[in-house]
Formats: sequence, C-alpha cells, structure tokens
Amino acid sequence: MKNAKIVLGVSAGIAAYKAVELLRLLVKEGAEVRVVMSANAGQFVTPLTFAALSGHPVYHSVFDAQNSMEHIRVAENADLLVVAPATASTLAKMAHGLADDALSCLHLAFKGPVLVCPAMNEGMWGHPAVKDNIALLKSRGVEFVDPESGELACGVIGLGRLADTNVILDKVRGYFSQRDDLTGIRFLITAGPTHEAIDPVRYLSNPSSGKMGYAVAEQVMARGGQVVLISGPTHLKPPPGVDFKPCKRADEMNTLVQEQFENCDVLVMSAAVGDFAAEKLEKEKIKKQGDEGLILKLVATKDILLEVAKRNSGKLVVGFAAESQNLVESALEKLRKKNLDFIVANDISAPGIGFQSDSNQVTIIDREEKIEDLPLKPKREIADLLLDRILFRLKHP
Ligand code: CTP
Repeated sequence: MKNAKIVLGVSAGIAAYKAVELLRLLVKEGAEVRVVMSANAGQFVTPLTFAALSGHPVYHSVFDAQNSMEHIRVAENADLLVVAPATASTLAKMAHGLADDALSCLHLAFKGPVLVCPAMNEGMWGHPAVKDNIALLKSRGVEFVDPESGELACGVIGLGRLADTNVILDKVRGYFSQRDDLTGIRFLITAGPTHEAIDPVRYLSNPSSGKMGYAVAEQVMARGGQVVLISGPTHLKPPPGVDFKPCKRADEMNTLVQEQFENCDVLVMSAAVGDFAAEKLEKEKIKKQGDEGLILKLVATKDILLEVAKRNSGKLVVGFAAESQNLVESALEKLRKKNLDFIVANDISAPGIGFQSDSNQVTIIDREEKIEDLPLKPKREIADLLLDRILFRLKHP
C-alpha cells in the first residue's frame, strides 16, 4: 500500500479502540493515513492517539478557525475513505447527506470510493432504518465490510461487532492491488453522453454521467493496460495516465473512434451516443414566437458501432444497451446487428441503477448468446468483471 492515501473515519462507538489497531496496520503497510473523527468519537479515543500513530494532525472539529477548510483539503488528497467503526448515527448522516461534524463533512466533500465497517448493538443493526440507510449507500456504490457475531459491548452475544481488523485490511488492500494482467492490451473506451446543438445555447442530450466508462478506464489502468478515452461532456476527471480525447457531438465521437480504432485491441463503447441531431444548427438563439410551439427536424446520427462492424477488423468489440423494456431481447438484437463480442445491458427503469448511479446491475451477453446476470455492484466492480471476461476471450478467441 505504498503511496496509498487513505482517510480513516472514526465514529463514536466502543469499537473505536480497534480503529487504533487498523491505523497501525495500514501505516505498517506503507499507507499515508489521515484520521477524521466524528463529533463524539473523542469520547472513546483521543485525537492525540491517532495523531501520534498516523504522524499527521487529526481532523476532529469543524469549528477550528485555522483549519475551517480542512475537510476539502483532506478529501481532495485521498484515494479511499474507510469508516471504521461506523455507528448507526454516522451511517444515517452519510445516507442522508448531513454534514454537522468533521467526518460527515469530509464524506460529502470526498469523491472517491468509500468503504464502511459498521459496528453497533444487534438490535440497532437489524433495525429497518439502519437497513434502509445501508441499502441507500450501497446503491451509490459504497462498499461494506459487515459486522461479525460475537460478544457485544452491551454484554449480549450477537451480530454487530466490528469486523476483524485483518478482514478490513484485506478489503482495503484490494483497492490498491495492482494486477498486471492487462499489460500490453490497448483499450479504446467511449463514455458519457453526446451533445447535439440546436442553437448556440441549447442542445439535445441524455442523463449519462460517464461513470461506467470511466470506471472501465480506471480499472484497465489499474491492471496495467493502455487506454484512449473518448468522452462526451461529463463532470468526471479523466483517470491519470489515459490518453484523453474530449468531444461533444456524435459525429465528432464517430470521427475519433474511427481514427483510433486501428490502434486498439479492444473497443468498449459505453458512451450513450445521441441517435438524433438537429438537421440545421441555428446560428442565433431561437426566439420564442408567442404561444407558438417549435417544430424541430431531426436527422439520424451515424451508428458508430455499425460503422466499426463494417470494417470487419477481428478486434474485440463491446457494446452497451440501456433498455427500459424487453432487456434481454433488445440487447440480443443489438449484439447480432452490431456484430459484438459482448453486450452489457442494464434496465434503466429500475430505481438506483443505471445512468447517474455509482452502482449498476447488468446482464452481460457474449457472442455465443450466453446470458449472465450479475448482482447489483459498484461500477468499479462491474468494470473488473467485464474486463475478466474480455481477457478470457482474448486468450481463448
Ligand atoms: N451506439 C453507437 N452509435 C450510436 C448509438 C449507439 O455506437 N449512434 C452504441 C452505444 O454506445 C452502445 C450501443 O450502440 O454501445 C447501443 O446503444 P443504444 O443507444 O442502446 O442502442 P441504439 O442502437 O441506439 O438503439 P435504441 O436507442 O433504439 O435502443
């Protein structure tokens, strides 16, 4: 874990003393750890203990005039937030976006992956409110190390004890483990929506966030591969090391894909490309004519994957299908029509998954039309599972 920058969030449970041990183990593995504490965590372990072991000041108060922006600084410089122990109260704050102490402020300011290790009394752990909060966080891609059974602070034996620190450590290691199984493989990945301008201030688009394609790009980089990332407009930062090619319109994306295609081994077409563009781009802003509506003539954009299929290149091509009905039939039709090796289909009508979400529940169908339903998972994990299948296919063409 050398160079791994981790924020350890400690909340106010008796298991806070185990966070001391977790911190010690993380530091021993070479991680740079900054500790952030909830308002009451200091009742259990003092900030001084964490400061001494981490070698950094501990962020525990939002009312420190000298460090009022500390949550932003710490959040910007971290790769992973681990909350251990996470009490029921901290879970609720995270689920509902409250920001009234150092830990909850930092959580909102942090954009990277979040791992939560809850610890609480068995009854609290089983309460529907806690379950709902966990489900909400999972739907945003937050990962969990569930508590274990054992003797709890309240004296009863039950489920709720913070997971063993070595189990947590193993899970943390997984975020930083560099596999090199994609070394030498060149990926061309498209992501995000396209914008088809109508006039200087208006455009046609869709709610794609780009998160799925960026997650694939990130995981390819983490596994030693090369990436050219062609992206429509998103709010995401391109993963470090990718050859980033931004674009707006579908025809720009098409030109870039056709140019770059020759130099790739795998095309992952996760962009939500607009199917229609305005026939005529108005030079001036279209003015409202009283109560009159507006008839806009749209023309079809080129289907990038169909253009690629015409080249009959023998390269591995992956398409995506966002469907609101007949998921498998529609995806199969696209797989055949666009001559794909894999299609990744998801049901955009299901709540908590798809376009803007950090999690997704997808069905992967391969060229032989084998259908594989994956469970709801963070997009980062879906990306890895897809890459495993791509790699297998490259090795067994
Ligand atoms: N795609 C493409 N070029 C387009 C439209 C889509 O290459 N002009 C790609 C997408 O990136 C995706 C796959 O085709 O990998 C399926 O996209 P989707 O929008 O689901 O399918 P369409 O073929 O556009 O069909 P429809 O929108 O009618 O469902």
